Amino acid sequence: MTPVGIPQSLAVLTGAGISAESGVPTFRGEEGLWRNFRPEELATLAAFRRDPALVWEWYEWRRGLIGGCQPNAAHHILVEMERAIPRFTLITQNVDGLHRLAGNRRVVELHGNIWQVRCTREGTVTEWRDHPLLKIPPRCKCGALLRPNVVWFGESLPPEALQAAFDAACSCQVMLVIGTSGVVEPAASLPRVAKQSGAWVIEINVETTPISRYTDETILGPAAIKSPRLWARWQGLS
Ligand code: OAD
Repeated sequence: MTPVGIPQSLAVLTGAGISAESGVPTFRGEEGLWRNFRPEELATLAAFRRDPALVWEWYEWRRGLIGGCQPNAAHHILVEMERAIPRFTLITQNVDGLHRLAGNRRVVELHGNIWQVRCTREGTVTEWRDHPLLKIPPRCKCGALLRPNVVWFGESLPPEALQAAFDAACSCQVMLVIGTSGVVEPAASLPRVAKQSGAWVIEINVETTPISRYTDETILGPAAIKSPRLWARWQGLS
């Protein structure tokens, strides 16, 4: 059934496309390349063990890019949605921290956050916004190497975040999927789980994706334009 008005329960899944208009390079776009390395060659534990300084230099480049970016209209509209919708969960694959910067609070960061570091010995996670880093690779007070607190290829997702994401997908009335290519598991399964649990699934993307095959609505166009329009429609303003 097409939901009328503002849903009472909404799960949102975002990917790199929501931050594209803020100037953050997407993963599978050409602008995400650094010194001709593909992200898959650097975002692995093996690459970090082999050459932690190289991996950190790449993260420094990304932190520099992202540090100059601001949330766009799509991020801001999700803050309005969170304020108005009683059961709201924002699940993101993005590590850029722009949802929290915009003001969202109920955020599940499935792939971690580029502004946090984790001690490779103790596992302690700390906020680390200093840029540029004084020393590469950085070290914890205990002497062990620090790594970015992000999920690398071949690593498992944080179990609590994964559980929260699947709980939201199973129980939401509407799932809104914005700017993800829908090819990286397990995040790519969330819209399908929501659909199978009876949710109305809406996708916003500049192109169709594997998710489009089973969505109830696919809205083609840039997230920063289409997301505020969808919110206006739910509010009965358009
Ligand atoms: P991708 O780079 O794979 O996909 C970005 C998606 O955004 C594509 O489907 C684009 O069509 C769409 N897009 C681009 N510009 C847009 C715009 N202005 N408005 C709306 N949509 C737009 O990024 P993700 O799907 O986020 O994981 O990638 C998923 C995961 O793959 C990442 O989190 C990362 C990577 O492996 C880890 O690092 C663990």
